[in-house]
Amino acid sequence: MENRIKISAPGKLMLFGEHAVVYKYPCLVMAVDKRMKVEIVKRKGKEIFISAPQLGLMEYRKKVEDLGKYEIPKTVRFIEVIVKNIFKQYDLTEGLEIKTSCDFSANFGFGSSAAVTVSVAYGILILFSIKVSKRELFDICYRSVLEVQGVGSGFDIAAAVYGGLLYFVGGGKIIEGLDVKKLPLVVGYTGVKADTPTIVRQVAEMKRKEPKKVEEIFIGIKNIVEKAKVAINKREYKELGKLMNRNHKLLKELGVSSVELDNLIEAAYRNGAYGAKLSGAGGGDCMIALRQAQDKYRIEEAIEKAGGEVIDVGLCSEGVRLEK
Ligand code: PMV
Repeated sequence: MENRIKISAPGKLMLFGEHAVVYKYPCLVMAVDKRMKVEIVKRKGKEIFISAPQLGLMEYRKKVEDLGKYEIPKTVRFIEVIVKNIFKQYDLTEGLEIKTSCDFSANFGFGSSAAVTVSVAYGILILFSIKVSKRELFDICYRSVLEVQGVGSGFDIAAAVYGGLLYFVGGGKIIEGLDVKKLPLVVGYTGVKADTPTIVRQVAEMKRKEPKKVEEIFIGIKNIVEKAKVAINKREYKELGKLMNRNHKLLKELGVSSVELDNLIEAAYRNGAYGAKLSGAGGGDCMIALRQAQDKYRIEEAIEKAGGEVIDVGLCSEGVRLEK
């Protein structure tokens, strides 16, 4: 049996349907070709050692029996909770050393927490020869993420587990892969780190105060997601761009855009994009624009002039996997 294992899982970008998906509506999410990498080694004793040098975490250690107890530093929360849940579910008690590294900055909003949760879960299961389906992996990871952050639809976990471009209904009611190999996107980072749970709670508060208005926005978003699914399947990018603009307008009505996001979106649109929108919770992180091949550089330049950072990402077909 192996004593050492390397796993990787992709980050994600939300294409359509953010926020509504938290309320069991559908979204479209794309796994990106930037990955979270995790190395797990069995070790003697009944302690877990975790290091995530990119997050400034050097050798955090915890006894197996204490997992999930006492104060857990923010940087290690997702890892400790998934280890605790996997150990509990499969009756494991062995010591482990877990080390993470990542192709992308945790600031981009590419779903590093979901990708690390999925990688660690999958790695431990393989290390102890426990076979589970993708669905079971999704379920245990989703429960763990909810335990840590209290809110979330699970779309980021699905992207990390399954890869590709997914039609996902909140909570994982439907997880369906679309047959697409690439999408002509430009991605711009605002330079502002958004706090997803805070923005999700802000929308929940608005929904409490103005239920009818918010429900109408969610239904509008749902209709856009359904049309976008068809447009992607037919490669109708002009139509897809229009749908992006409409989705962004509804997100603005939810109050989740920001000056930085709107500036980058406007810059992309003025420079030939078919359409553009924020991607994810809003308040910062990234925007995406859909483009014709010949407009790529013009749009990228415009995004940079408007204060954004262009991030080169492609669609990734592979979900969590074992690395050599
Ligand atoms: O901020 P991100 O990129 O993790 O996206 C959040 C998307 C939401 O729909 C707002 C929340 C969720 O869990 O679906």
